[in-house]
Amino acid sequence: PQLLLINGPNLNLLGNREPGVYGSRTLDDIVDEVQRHAASLGLDLVHFQSNHEGELVTRVQQASREGVSYIVINPAAYTHTSIALRDALLASDIPFIEVHLSNIHARESFRRHSYLSDIASGVIVGFGPSGYRLAIDAAASALGMPRS
Ligand code: DQA
Repeated sequence: PQLLLINGPNLNLLGNREPGVYGSRTLDDIVDEVQRHAASLGLDLVHFQSNHEGELVTRVQQASREGVSYIVINPAAYTHTSIALRDALLASDIPFIEVHLSNIHARESFRRHSYLSDIASGVIVGFGPSGYRLAIDAAASALGMPRS
């Protein structure tokens, strides 16, 4: 089965961006580890990062045509603003898990609202990069993959 990992705006800056909030690991480093973890569970994980809302929407649309089984997404700031991304995920009918590195409930109040959480299979917040691994484990279990 194929999984799609999507990272939204400014996550390309991980490692340099507010390290006190987001940690010191780069996105490449994190994605590499998550990809290897997915492979160990028998899942093929494709990664896409974009700073552009429309590109994220287009990528979700493409995922339906590709037969992607599960999406793990950190929509970054678009979490709090994007009805377009919500609509794309609804249209795709692909189950997804929302991930945030930081605990969005312990920050500015505008980060507490997500346009995606109520339609997600689940939400993982506040565990840093481990959140992606936890999401892969949850997706693997939902897809009935044997534990390794
Ligand atoms: C984030 C939280 C968002 O509020 C913020 O805009 C981000 C990253 C996180 O992973 O903690 O860019 O999604």
